[in-house]
Amino acid sequence: MEEDNKTVEIPKGVQKGSKVITGVFVALVILAIILVVFLGGKKVDSTSEETPSSQATQTTSSETEKAISLDELSTHSTDDNCWIAIGEGAYDVTGFVTKHPGGDKILSGCGKDATEIFNARPGTGLPHSETAKNMLSQFKIGNLAK
Ligand code: HEM
Repeated sequence: MEEDNKTVEIPKGVQKGSKVITGVFVALVILAIILVVFLGGKKVDSTSEETPSSQATQTTSSETEKAISLDELSTHSTDDNCWIAIGEGAYDVTGFVTKHPGGDKILSGCGKDATEIFNARPGTGLPHSETAKNMLSQFKIGNLAK
């Protein structure tokens, strides 16, 4: 007899409350699924966008890299037309000549392979800073022909 009472009598308020809780729970689960699908989709998108674009940049730069001979370089040896080879790269630093922190000394490198004077600056014999080295890329026009 006692057991019957336990199973049958569930107050209406409690029934309503549990329905509300179930509803909220279901809503939360749906929200979580939407979030996972949305954010997951975004991640996949961004990786698939990044990979081809970085590959494209690499391919383009290596394909368009022009081989510049020392002869050609020597025809750009003035303050208003200054190409410089440093290491394997060739750079058009014409627009930078007047901004160079080392002043006119940059002109001694125009039209030639200036690797040595770039790495051992006249006066101190010290190399250029990492900042200076990093600036080179913006002036790159090709590679020194071997
Ligand atoms: C190859 C020819 C070059 C020569 C002979 C030369 C020489 C010098 C000298 C003597 C200084 C020291 C200035 C001082 O503080 O008293 C200097 C500084 C500097 N040069 Fe050049 N330079 C040359 C090319 C370049 C190029 C191509 C760049 C940039 C891409 C550059 C960027 C700088 C910068 C940023 C400084 C400030 C100090 C530092 O960050 O190292 N130079 N340079």
